[in-house]
Amino acid sequence: MSHSISSISAAVRQDFPILHQSIHGKHPLVYLDNAASTQRPTAVLEAMDNCYRRDYSNVHRGIHELSERSTAQYEAARQTLADFVGARDAAEIIFTSGTTAALNLVAHAWSAAVLQPGDEILLTMLEHHSNIVPWQQAAARHGARVVFAPIGHHGSFDLVEWQKCFTPRTRLVSFAAVSNVLGYRLPIEPMVSYAKERGVTVVLDAAQAVPHEPIHFENLGVDFAAFSGHKLLGPTGIGVLYGRRQWLERIPPFLGGGSMISGVTTSGFTPGELPAKFEAGTPPIVEAIGLAAAVRYLSDIGLDQIAEHEKSLARRARERLTQIRGIAFLHREREVASGIVSFHVPGVSAQDIAVLLDCKGIAVRAGHHCTMPLHDFLGVPASVRASFYLYNTAEEVDYFGDRLQETIERLSA
Ligand SMILES: Cc1ncc(COP(=O)(O)O)c(C=O)c1O
Repeated sequence: MSHSISSISAAVRQDFPILHQSIHGKHPLVYLDNAASTQRPTAVLEAMDNCYRRDYSNVHRGIHELSERSTAQYEAARQTLADFVGARDAAEIIFTSGTTAALNLVAHAWSAAVLQPGDEILLTMLEHHSNIVPWQQAAARHGARVVFAPIGHHGSFDLVEWQKCFTPRTRLVSFAAVSNVLGYRLPIEPMVSYAKERGVTVVLDAAQAVPHEPIHFENLGVDFAAFSGHKLLGPTGIGVLYGRRQWLERIPPFLGGGSMISGVTTSGFTPGELPAKFEAGTPPIVEAIGLAAAVRYLSDIGLDQIAEHEKSLARRARERLTQIRGIAFLHREREVASGIVSFHVPGVSAQDIAVLLDCKGIAVRAGHHCTMPLHDFLGVPASVRASFYLYNTAEEVDYFGDRLQETIERLSA
């Protein structure tokens, strides 16, 4: 397959060295596993390489030149991230190792400050395990209960059903901004308003939103939000917890250690100021610098344009896949809202489909995508997910569709 390329992907593909390779020695790589993790442009690789080669030292501790340079770049990265996601104040950006770590931080620290026996935490049926298990653990620690709002059996989200799950004991709601399997955006604005009118804390799992659409946490009115660097062209090992200053000041630190204190004696410690209070130990310094480079790269292209590009690829994929006998989409509605397309073929193993596609150079994800409750609810043991990003092309979608058709015909024979 040749890569004759249209739209924004033509120019950007040159920036991603990893995309220019053959798989199994003969098929050009078609990377459609972007909801799991994305690839890095040279701008990110160079930003990290430059730091390690010229400027690297530990931050906030030394008074020597390299420490000052690293600290300046690390704190500049925080400001870049704050501007990117609409935080009022850079101190509301806590660097963590990813979405999972960020959600664990809130679940632990917020619950320690607020949660009482009998309280309820409201989730939805489509959540990623990272937005389920930390709440189950917190509920178990504090004698609280986790409630799952149902979704429609065709995969769609029902705002009214979600609202019906509120009780006088609901203390916190946490939900994905965009489902990593169903691919649509939840109605964040009415959900936030409804929760806020009832004095309920709102946590947004923005892992699948921040890489793909312009977002402004302050304007959305959420109390906390989490996302990962590796899903937006940044390095692994870094993510962000956004928290409103009032909350971050009120809740206790999560991890204890160096950097997060203003003082320690043999009888106790005093937490440091924000954001240090939540960044115990040596932070992901070079990863933060790489993440800021990724954010600048995405901003230069424009998230609106990226979102349109992904949606046009997903639309094309759905149209092509609709022609293949046996395919059932997990989200049945035709409207495409992101670059994620998930499906299953009753009677055919999702893993077998993914293995045969890999033989043709196509990387997709098969399994439950860390959403076992959702798959159980939909009665689907496992699904296949193709997820597009700015560097994917219409030609790749067509190649994927043709190889998928052959694969399913072969496995159904
Ligand atoms: C919606 C959602 N939440 C949370 C996560 C967890 O992200 P990470 O593994 O980077 O912590 C993912 C990753 O797949 C996700 O898609």
